[in-house]
Amino acid sequence: MKPTSALPLLFLFLYDITLSHSAAEAASGGGRWDLLQRSIGVSAMHMQLLHNDRVIIFDRTDFGPSNLSLPDGKCRHDHHERVLKIDCTAHSAEYDVVTNTFRPLTIHTDTWCSSGSVDPDGRLIQTGGSFDGERAIRTFFPCTDSRCDWKEVEALAVPRWYATNQILPDGRAIIIGGRLQFSYEFYPKSNPSTAGITNLEFLLQTRDVEENNLYPFVHLNVDGNLFIFANNRAILLDYTKNNIVGTYPPVPGGDPRSYPSTGSSVLLPLESSGEEAEVLICGGAPRGSFMKAIKNEAFVGALSTCGRIKITDPSPTWFIETMPTPRVMGDMILLPSGKEVLIINGAAAGAAGWELGRSPVMIPVVYCPGKPVGARFEVQNSSSTARLYHSSAILLRDGRILVGGSNPHENYVFSGVDYPTELSLEAFSPDYLGAEHSILRPRIIEPRTPLMLNYGKQFSLRFKARLTSNEGVSVTMVAPSFSTHSFSMNQRLLILKSSKAATIPSGSSTHEIGAVAPKSRILAPPGYYMFFIVNGRIPGEGIWVHIQ
Ligand SMILES: *[C@@H]1O[C@H](CO)[C@@H](O)[C@H](O)[C@H]1NC(C)=O
Ligand SMILES: *[C@@H]1O[C@H](CO)[C@@H](O)[C@H](O)[C@H]1NC(C)=O
Repeated sequence: MKPTSALPLLFLFLYDITLSHSAAEAASGGGRWDLLQRSIGVSAMHMQLLHNDRVIIFDRTDFGPSNLSLPDGKCRHDHHERVLKIDCTAHSAEYDVVTNTFRPLTIHTDTWCSSGSVDPDGRLIQTGGSFDGERAIRTFFPCTDSRCDWKEVEALAVPRWYATNQILPDGRAIIIGGRLQFSYEFYPKSNPSTAGITNLEFLLQTRDVEENNLYPFVHLNVDGNLFIFANNRAILLDYTKNNIVGTYPPVPGGDPRSYPSTGSSVLLPLESSGEEAEVLICGGAPRGSFMKAIKNEAFVGALSTCGRIKITDPSPTWFIETMPTPRVMGDMILLPSGKEVLIINGAAAGAAGWELGRSPVMIPVVYCPGKPVGARFEVQNSSSTARLYHSSAILLRDGRILVGGSNPHENYVFSGVDYPTELSLEAFSPDYLGAEHSILRPRIIEPRTPLMLNYGKQFSLRFKARLTSNEGVSVTMVAPSFSTHSFSMNQRLLILKSSKAATIPSGSSTHEIGAVAPKSRILAPPGYYMFFIVNGRIPGEGIWVHIQ
């Protein structure tokens, strides 16, 4: 990782160059779009990939019928429901990546603008929402047949709508914030007989008239503390003692980046030493955009800057770069090579909220964190579908990005509007999946999946590929993340310590590589990860690994 906090003078100098050159110099990166399903019947407001290669997708329950029927006998009877007292349509679906099929799932309480994470056993833990779902905790344990469904189990201590979840080194989830909730809590609770709520003043301090403190960007730092970003600034929280151990300066410019001025954020790929960590936050909306859009006064142009900060630095500063296009409501996805971050979906004007986005941005952009400043952005081929508010995107094990949703309306609306409700699923295949790279693409032949890893232990793999001469082979692990409202909760990519790939027998295309599993639960919280071998910058299809 290149150091980003240089001397102040150098900083200004680079900042200048970046502003004037990056847009013009953005290279063209290719990539391909495929329509997977014209309609799965449910708009993908939330998505989570599980370790059986099925994606749990859900919307909200309180707007009337979806376009997917529930099986006989599964109708939802709810006399509190605003639109339909008896609803025989599904608001959640399971999408099977391998067979490209889907089936309805049953959710009873309202999951609108909720949050989630996956526990160490691979169970989706999903929390909160609105109305009758604001305190719900729902779980989904993956199965190989089609019989598993949602379980709605326990109650949160307080309502949490627009909260953020993060999986912790001990396997619990922390659930942070939510509308008018300036606190956090854990699941499972350490002491079930207490409410277990801890106040977090920072969420009150970052609240403004637009409520730009919602869906905070949370990243588990390599020192075990939580980086929590809301509005335009961040803290480092020791959640075990409720102690703020660090504060970060506001992003230059001072504009908000979290909901509803929705930008996006990633923890950049982590090296095996676990000594440094950097966060990249891109896009968002200038302060006041949300209010102007709500009043229908103006749809203000989105922010085109990214801020990058080394969160482990004792005196951290933001380094600002300019994207080829402005973007609000973009999603940021770490690509398996560990060398690229995809920025996808969103709009060039307005803010997050019903009817508040304008000028869809249909070109994804790739950011290469290790390239020289001014040469980091690559413009990708355009989609033909607007993905605005309530859209989502996740990395699949085969390296494609699954893209779904977009429903900027209160109900499902398919005609007579500029941006109809999207029930489709598309895949974006980055350039590395192109046929021209097939000979380079590593194919893991041993071991079979899932691979069980122990912290800090060495293991080896065999794979086939023609090795690139100069760039070498690397090994990465990516946590499947919970995507909603332009933020991928729990997204984490680890670059493992690995040996030089050895060819066996010499001269063939079969190679062996040794790697060391992440050294700690802080670096890699326990659970399932997608594991990739990367040849130069070309990742092969991943396999599932479990670390505990
Ligand atoms: C994507 O873009 C590249 C050039 O950047 C082009 O050669 C290719 O045909 C495009 N692919 C598709 C499927 O549009
Ligand atoms: C959803 O259902 C409505 C009502 O039956 C129909 O008009 C619409 O075309 C459907 N949309 C999609 C994308 O399937």
